Amino acid sequence: MKPQPQEQIRKKPLPLEFPGIHYIDEQELEAVTRVIRSRSLFRYYGVDLQKEAESFEAEFAAFLGVKHAVAAGSGTGALSVALSALGVGPGQEIIVPAYLWVSVAAAVVNQGAIPVLADIDDTFGLDPADVERRITKHTAGIIMTHMSGAPGDVAAVQSVARAKGLFLLEDCAQCAGGSVHGRKVGTFGDMAIFSFQMNKNITAGEGGCVVTGDDRLFARAFACHDLGYARDDNGRLIFDDPDLRLWGRGTRLDELRAAVLRVQLRKLPAITAAMRASKYRIRQALARFPQVQLRRMADPAGDTGPFLITTYPDHETARRVNGALRAEGIVTSDQGVSNILMTEWGLHLYYNIASLVKRSSVDRSGFPWTLEANHGLGGEYGKGTCPAADSLFERSILLPIPSCLTPEDEADIIAAFEKVLSACLGG
Ligand SMILES: Cc1ncc(COP(=O)(O)O)c(C=O)c1O
Repeated sequence: MKPQPQEQIRKKPLPLEFPGIHYIDEQELEAVTRVIRSRSLFRYYGVDLQKEAESFEAEFAAFLGVKHAVAAGSGTGALSVALSALGVGPGQEIIVPAYLWVSVAAAVVNQGAIPVLADIDDTFGLDPADVERRITKHTAGIIMTHMSGAPGDVAAVQSVARAKGLFLLEDCAQCAGGSVHGRKVGTFGDMAIFSFQMNKNITAGEGGCVVTGDDRLFARAFACHDLGYARDDNGRLIFDDPDLRLWGRGTRLDELRAAVLRVQLRKLPAITAAMRASKYRIRQALARFPQVQLRRMADPAGDTGPFLITTYPDHETARRVNGALRAEGIVTSDQGVSNILMTEWGLHLYYNIASLVKRSSVDRSGFPWTLEANHGLGGEYGKGTCPAADSLFERSILLPIPSCLTPEDEADIIAAFEKVLSACLGG
């Protein structure tokens, strides 16, 4: 008798990621309707201003436990605003992690400064020891990204920054609501940024925020996110403050998206709790396979949960496990990230950012790489610059954990892992 083909464990695609999207309901609809009815869509003035952006800033700052928040049009805009507030420019090196998003490098380059890569460790966040090694007399600051939903070793990186007199900017775009031993990410650095683009823990489609505990940095960020000047309580520009005659980045948040974000913020703890619970059920089931390395967590309770990263002894094993899991139906529909080898994770990996590797410019003079002030600054950006990251990327698989997984979905993922790992690794 011919052997029967084995049944695939999962018959229909897993739900798409996009954590906040699954929680959108009548409350967001009511918030948007309120703003439309007011016919006041701009944050500073209108016929019946609801002050949604202002309220979001106050509520987000209170949620984090930080003094100031500036709502922005995107996370990328927020990065530029923060670096402008921090006074970043030519002649400065800014340390950025090997595992990042293209916007981080872009924000540094657009300021005229030079990014310097530092390696990551098994938290998939900056390795504090490597950060220290990459500091030169030109280093002005460190950007730490909390990637794939979980905080890195931010307290150690903060200590390095303090000891060396560097600024620390936390990029929490992928980790809103994350914490380390009860302290929220975004409160460790001199400044922090968030993104509310659709893939993030909460969303209004697009959106961002800059936060800081420092009054001066706040005033500068507020001016820079707008037109470069302060505004009075009626939204009128103030031109006579000599410290706030700056240049604007034009990345204000509108009232519609602010209204949506106020609702999403109230749902953030439930969204992250759902993803975390699903993820840790799966992690627990994987504990019986010692060859599978699980991402080291600075604090599992502060992981927001949107991605499960598993690491294997070598690339070939990771590739086989990934292929076998996909063959078992552990995939989302095509629009999602699905279940990928980390080497397929695009502009999150430093060596995939062609404009960084090739030191690209938008102008003909080669800005900022060819500026006299930047002569001799920076290092290499090609593969091999950060060997720990290279090895982790090659050996790891990234599986999104949607915020709406049912116990049946989780059971399918666990069953597929158990079947595939027993076959590929023995266990
Ligand atoms: C780590 C990181 N930083 C910054 C950003 C930029 O955010 P946005 O897409 O809102 O511009 C993102 C978004 O993907 C991100 O993942």
